Amino acid sequence: TWTPGNIIEDQVAAIRAQVGDKQVICGLSGGVDSAVAAALVQRAIGDQLTCVFVDHGLLRAGEAEQVEKDFVAATGARLKVVDAADVFLGHLAGVTDPEQKRKIIGREFIRAFEGAARELDAERHIEFLVQGTLYPDVVESGGGTGTANIKSHHNVGGLPDDLQFALIEPLRTLFKDEVRALGAELGLPEEMVQRHPFPGPGLAIRIIGAVDRDRLDLLRAADLIAREELTASGLDRDVWQFPVVLLADVRSVGVQGDGRTYGHPVVLRPVSSEDAMTADWSRLPYDVIAKISTRITNEVREVNRVVLDVTSKPPGTIEWE
Ligand code: XMP
Repeated sequence: TWTPGNIIEDQVAAIRAQVGDKQVICGLSGGVDSAVAAALVQRAIGDQLTCVFVDHGLLRAGEAEQVEKDFVAATGARLKVVDAADVFLGHLAGVTDPEQKRKIIGREFIRAFEGAARELDAERHIEFLVQGTLYPDVVESGGGTGTANIKSHHNVGGLPDDLQFALIEPLRTLFKDEVRALGAELGLPEEMVQRHPFPGPGLAIRIIGAVDRDRLDLLRAADLIAREELTASGLDRDVWQFPVVLLADVRSVGVQGDGRTYGHPVVLRPVSSEDAMTADWSRLPYDVIAKISTRITNEVREVNRVVLDVTSKPPGTIEWE
């Protein structure tokens, strides 16, 4: 019978058999899949695993800390952090085209991960790479599903020939909710295990316009408020994802405090979905929306307007870029 405990036992035995006494690397993104895969491999082979976290500076408030502190505390994993925010922001400066942003982030991500892998490999020869591939990913990449790839989604992969590792994919037969159950059983923090999906390019594709530190800070502050209020309302599980989008190149007039302001709007984009292929806008209670709107306009400087996205997918995508 399927229980998280059984799966862990089976996988631990399989990973030990596959790896022997060799060394393993795993990239952490802050997401559920890579965290659970890493925790599982850590459970199996302990210190033979080194995790690598490329911090591209595009995560939401608290997410880098979650990886660096909470994940490490929960698993005891050895973690190498690459602080690459300056590099990413440097390359992204002035770039407004969504696909261009994705290309830059994908390229720099591989570059940073590769650099860390090379350093590590020099220290201790690495033979295996852990990937948090799930069953739906396996089916999707098997082709023949007839779904068009309309955005270039990025993943770790495409490593150069002289840096080839054998893959360990302990989640290959599992669905998302099974992975969450496994993560909980492995002692990962609830906020990590229940996290909504979040795109690899991070907040860069939720700033409509060029990305810079100030804009990221604005968006982080607004996003944190939306997440806090959604959680407070008890509706986290009713929503698939809740992107908050900064219309950085749009300004509108407002009146705040003593005077006229000329600030930016943010868009709330809560959606309900089964698999992200189609989605509907979430009918969140108006009280929750109102609370978020009031708090954002009161607490986030330069934001003087909050709008709600009421578009389903299709025709809209979940993300704005
Ligand atoms: P869209 O916006 O196409 O998003 O409706 C569908 C799902 O994919 C996520 N998404 C991405 N994930 N890299 C990722 O890893 C990307 O470039 C990317 N673009 C969109 C999005 O958050 C949603 O869950």
